[in-house]
Amino acid sequence: MYYPEELIEEVRMKNDIVDVISGYVRIQKKGSSYFGLCPFHNEKSPSFSVSGIRQMYYCFGCGAGGNVFTFIMEYENYSFPEAVKLLADKAGVRLPELEYSEEMKKKEGKKSRLLEINKEAAKYFYFQLKSDKGQIGYRYLKNRQLTEETIKRFGLGFAHVTSDDLVRYLRSRGYDDELMKEAGLASFDERMGLHDKFWNRVMFPIQDINHRVIGFGGRVMGDGNPKYLNSPETMIFDKSRNLYGLNMARTARKNHLILCEGYMDVIALHQAGFTQAAASLGTAFTAGQANLLRRYTEEAVLAYDSDGAGVNAALRAITILKETGLTARVLNLEPYKDPDEFIQNMGPAAFEERIGSAENSFFFELRILEKEFDSKDPESKTRFHREIAKKLCLIQEEVERENYMEATADKYHIGFDSLRKLVLSYAARTGLARPVERPRSGISSKSTPEDQAKKSQKLLLTWISDMPSLYPRIRSLLSPADFTVELYRKAADRLFAGLEAGECNPAAIISLFGDEEEQREAAALFNTRLAELTTKAEQEKAFNDIVYAVKKHSYDHYSAKLGSDVEAISQVIAGKKALEELSKTHISFD
Ligand code: CTP
Ligand code: MN
Repeated sequence: MYYPEELIEEVRMKNDIVDVISGYVRIQKKGSSYFGLCPFHNEKSPSFSVSGIRQMYYCFGCGAGGNVFTFIMEYENYSFPEAVKLLADKAGVRLPELEYSEEMKKKEGKKSRLLEINKEAAKYFYFQLKSDKGQIGYRYLKNRQLTEETIKRFGLGFAHVTSDDLVRYLRSRGYDDELMKEAGLASFDERMGLHDKFWNRVMFPIQDINHRVIGFGGRVMGDGNPKYLNSPETMIFDKSRNLYGLNMARTARKNHLILCEGYMDVIALHQAGFTQAAASLGTAFTAGQANLLRRYTEEAVLAYDSDGAGVNAALRAITILKETGLTARVLNLEPYKDPDEFIQNMGPAAFEERIGSAENSFFFELRILEKEFDSKDPESKTRFHREIAKKLCLIQEEVERENYMEATADKYHIGFDSLRKLVLSYAARTGLARPVERPRSGISSKSTPEDQAKKSQKLLLTWISDMPSLYPRIRSLLSPADFTVELYRKAADRLFAGLEAGECNPAAIISLFGDEEEQREAAALFNTRLAELTTKAEQEKAFNDIVYAVKKHSYDHYSAKLGSDVEAISQVIAGKKALEELSKTHISFD
């Protein structure tokens, strides 16, 4: 931890979360909590809740949540120590100079030194663009219609032809060769010694959502190869979990985000007023990126190149987006190749129209699929209809499936009843599309056993933190070790230790995690929505189910580790006993 834990607690307790958040968001009292429009995603009806009793906030729409520190980190894009500092100043608490543990110093030290050297390099490239040697780069950007303001906003720069220019500059600023290599800014070979990785390229600094430079993309001047050269992955640069431009796009407050293929596309769109645009980083779109997007929006509008490669990339992205629970639409850029060209030729108003008329991803997929078949040939046409039926089967929710069936039948001139029959016959054969039954406990049966286990562990922690009086009834049956996810175990450990001492303080537990992502996840542990259970009998039943599910999963988890893990044996023995006990007992709320 950066500061002593007691001090962090003091700062937290002196900053009432309702007061602090009221300074940023309009919230209104409703029951025991306050509600308002979530500042972290776009919404029309309030699902952002702030609890004064629990000193936590949570958005039921996008899953943002945490304590007062998390809020400042998310809202102001601050690191944990920065958030602590801001709130300490506000409450008049004096903080000592930062104290880092040795391990933290090493890890944090390396990370922050990498961030620092990248920032320095970005400044240097930016400076070069304005120098005489940078004229080629500057002219290139001007030719591509970028304004001075845009160049500045994106911090665009230039790496000129001298092969060790940056290396010499960074050395003069006191950075060592090792760090330059590790940051992917320089490489070594026998002939040239340590030399710049990027030269003769216009430089695009890549920022994370907190506006920190984590890597670079460089476009060669002229026809050199490769056209774009990107920084290698480093400790701070994970290409599958960042998106170019998202740092700005995430505050665009539109009901969608635009996803494109290239850096220039993002920049051209932002310049034209579409600040909701982002792009992947020279690699295919990933599930990690979809997850990141989901924090800010429910819909992605794909503006990929209109060539074959772009269409294939769009199809893959659609699959990933849907698996993540986002909806997707596909923008038609014809007759132009990419958003950049489109905007230059047609202007922003026409692009806005294309957003409005972007095609639903299901129909986009069908339209591409259709090309593989010959509608004049009955045999081929039938095969196409079968493929359609297969795709319809994949739609889980019945109402949605029916709606799609209707629209598809209409669009492709297939009789609704025959399409429906076809779908049903596939569903019966593959076991798909059966209506899913949701157990009252809120544990969905659709997800994998691993997901279900996580869900029940979360539900249990929420329940216990909501009703601490339940703790004495389960303390002999469950222990923190039953929480098989490390972060959950850490949280349970603290929660249970607190409860042993007669206190329940989930908001303090969140501060144990210095990282924004972990804080969100920890907050979710205490805010998992329970299904609407009205009667006490229903609640008791659900609670008993959840305790049993957690214990059962823990038992299975440790059983699988027998032989390789010395702790496992005692967990298994205790687990077996507890399961027997649980099957005989009923934990009552009275
Ligand atoms: N890209 C890459 N490596 C390449 C080519 C492309 O990493 N050799 C990535 C870059 O992120 C680029 C994106 O893929 O921005 C799209 O590629 P392309 O359509 O070729 O680039 P444009 O943005 O159209 O480039 P330009 O307009 O500068 O020609
Ligand atoms: Mn282009």
